[in-house]
Amino acid sequence: MSGLYGRFDDAAREYVVVRPDTPLPWLNYLGQDDLFGLCTNTGGGYTFWRDPRLRRLTRYRYNDAPLDSVGRYLYVNDGGIVWNPGWKPTKTPLDRYECRHGLGYTRIAGARDGVEVELLFFVPPGEDAEVWKTTVRNTGAAPKDLTLFSYVEFCLYQALDDMTNFQRTYSTGEVEIDDAAIYHTTGLRERRRHCTLFGCTREPSGFDTSRDAFVGVHNGLHEAAVPFAGRARGSVVDGWNPVGSHQLDLQLEPGTEETFAFVLAYLEEPGTVADTARGRALLARYAEPGAVDDAFAALRARWDELLAGFQVDCPDEQVRRMLNTWNQSQVTATFNLSRSASLWESGIGRGMGFRDSNQDLLGCVHLVPERARQRILDLASTQLSDGTCFHQYQPLTKKGNAEIGGGFFDDHLWLIASTCAYIKETGDTSILAEPVGYADVPGGADDLLHHLETGIALTRANRGDHGLPLIGHADWNDCLNLNCFSTDPDESFQTAGDVEGSRAESVMIAGLFLYAARELAALYAHLGRAEDEARLLSAYDEMLAAVEAEAWDGAWYLRAFDAAGRAIGSRESDEGRIFVESQAWCVLGGAGGENGRARRALASVQELLATEDGIVLVQPAFTRYHPELGEITSYPPGNKENAGIFCHTNPWITLCWCLLGEGDRALDSYLAICPATKQDRIEAYRSEPYAFAQMIAGPDARTPGEGRNSWLTGTAAWALVALSQGILGVKPCYDGLRVDPCIPPGWDGYRVTRRFRGVVYEIDVRNPRHVSGGVRAVTVDGRELAGDLVPAAAGGKKIVHVDVELGR
Ligand code: GLC
Ligand code: GLC
Repeated sequence: MSGLYGRFDDAAREYVVVRPDTPLPWLNYLGQDDLFGLCTNTGGGYTFWRDPRLRRLTRYRYNDAPLDSVGRYLYVNDGGIVWNPGWKPTKTPLDRYECRHGLGYTRIAGARDGVEVELLFFVPPGEDAEVWKTTVRNTGAAPKDLTLFSYVEFCLYQALDDMTNFQRTYSTGEVEIDDAAIYHTTGLRERRRHCTLFGCTREPSGFDTSRDAFVGVHNGLHEAAVPFAGRARGSVVDGWNPVGSHQLDLQLEPGTEETFAFVLAYLEEPGTVADTARGRALLARYAEPGAVDDAFAALRARWDELLAGFQVDCPDEQVRRMLNTWNQSQVTATFNLSRSASLWESGIGRGMGFRDSNQDLLGCVHLVPERARQRILDLASTQLSDGTCFHQYQPLTKKGNAEIGGGFFDDHLWLIASTCAYIKETGDTSILAEPVGYADVPGGADDLLHHLETGIALTRANRGDHGLPLIGHADWNDCLNLNCFSTDPDESFQTAGDVEGSRAESVMIAGLFLYAARELAALYAHLGRAEDEARLLSAYDEMLAAVEAEAWDGAWYLRAFDAAGRAIGSRESDEGRIFVESQAWCVLGGAGGENGRARRALASVQELLATEDGIVLVQPAFTRYHPELGEITSYPPGNKENAGIFCHTNPWITLCWCLLGEGDRALDSYLAICPATKQDRIEAYRSEPYAFAQMIAGPDARTPGEGRNSWLTGTAAWALVALSQGILGVKPCYDGLRVDPCIPPGWDGYRVTRRFRGVVYEIDVRNPRHVSGGVRAVTVDGRELAGDLVPAAAGGKKIVHVDVELGR
């Protein structure tokens, strides 16, 4: 399926943007280890090392007009006409434009008047550098005399200071120039132990480092002075706004081309001046013939190897492309960046979220098991000894963020979910004994299992009048602030209000507790610790009894009890009568299983919350501000938590449908929010068709169906879990892989390749009786198996063939 603005090239694992004026900038991420770049389809975006707040290398102006107007730019001056291969910033009309977003790279090609320029942006694996491979071709009949100008705008590293503290920063900027190497050295004279190199592998004929000189004080980047004048000015900046620009002069005969590269590198510097010898060596390395292509081939090979571990062939095209490429690419981005840096997250406000990153792990532990292990330990170390957690931490320092603090009473339970998912995937129970201190007990060495138990104890010790968990500042729904009562527009809903002594309770946390307690009980069973298992199961039963006794409202589960003890999300409510989160989590926690309430609650979701663009978070939308409910009622109806289609919750419902064995509903709910299905209504949807959005405007909004806040959302991980473990039913378990599908009965079958603990499982599922699920027979390498658990292969096997026949 092709859209107006682009199409999927599935074989190449690329999304091809065919015109630059997309409804919103369409983003991709560069980088995989420490150096990351945001790169839009016109080259917009910025680069940072590890931490977009504290180590930002290049600048970006959020909230600018036009949107997305700073980036990695190359200006071409061809006989006085100035253009950019990525269209922006000059927007000079192009004869041809194409952007290919791939995994960890973006390739932008533009052509005009017989000149073709191709830019390939990527970060070579293991390197702290972004490489821009540049190819310039003369495709016309006459010789060409071209002048090219590169452009990046340096950020003075501390991004918040850089965009607020001008009285200081405008007197600190410094650069050093060494031929083709421009070093941004601000702060190196005092305490910084790093600088940025922007270099070129081809000999330049000029350079600029002052924005005032290159652009002109009264100009925009689209009319930058130097490219239009056709000559660099050799400016050396002192304070103000340091930039990096090279002038390159090219004479090209018809039919000839030249290839070279720009390199943007982060260099650790022991001294107080740039180590130019090291910079020269780096540029020389990439100037070697084939070096850039080899580095790019290594990047492609890395992704091929990663993705080969999980592939599907099934009747649904969107499922294939999402699972095989894009959903796995997005979970890598959320793993790397949490909610820090996107076009909608400024890279300053939020670091790594505790609940966010724990959920992100669920989607990508199969891709990055070792890094997942470290992430779990890093997260645990920001938990406090009373079980509460710092809500966010800074990736550079790994220290909890004191500004936002803690008191979100769901946070700790997600650590159990991520730890169990990690052990199921890897079999590595040694992580439980890993010493990891609490944030408030410096040097403490309790183990990870202790942290999990502390979380369980915290929820048990903090229950309200209905026996349900207290909510604190908020649970997963950050905007349901039952203890905030804010009347001051200048305070943050996230931190205002006092949770001490409050009696507000959350049904959603109750459901999450059920899930977590059962997970931990199963882990104890696996460890052979029957007593601990029984203890957790009895805590489970106690909570389940409270949920069933207090939280059922007749046709769905209540959402909460507010600070005054009133039911929230009840048929008695005029606004906010039914919320999706408590339906999802009570059902995922095992409530309503025997008494039929799970099925009833899901029917209510379907009847009252489902739309063709996905499931709305709450109905009816809140039409006015309710201080006793907080931020959720601050949004206009249909937006964000106030009755937006908050996509994160949708795969939870997909998983619920799978529990109930409803294969058609499960797939429908996956596809409803799936970006790839939005190509045929892209003018309304606007966001990238290859990355899930956090939110799709709900039916109450003025722009229903509009995707917002794409890329960094927990939707990515949950959608992949719902698709792979729920619908396709390939579930990592402590002792092996369980195959337990829930597919549309119309499917004849499908095939999954899944790497699990170093062994590749080729799983063929046949559906001759056209059912949703239920496994009739499983054979493993030709031998029939009792049950549906394929034991983890032992004895040096590399490939295992599994045949599954559905039908009861
Ligand atoms: C900057 C100013 C200094 C001021 C300080 C406070 O360093 O140069 O005058 O006291 O900021 O933020
Ligand atoms: C945002 C937050 C996440 C929260 C969700 C719902 O996505 O990052 O932590 O759970 O909103 O409010």
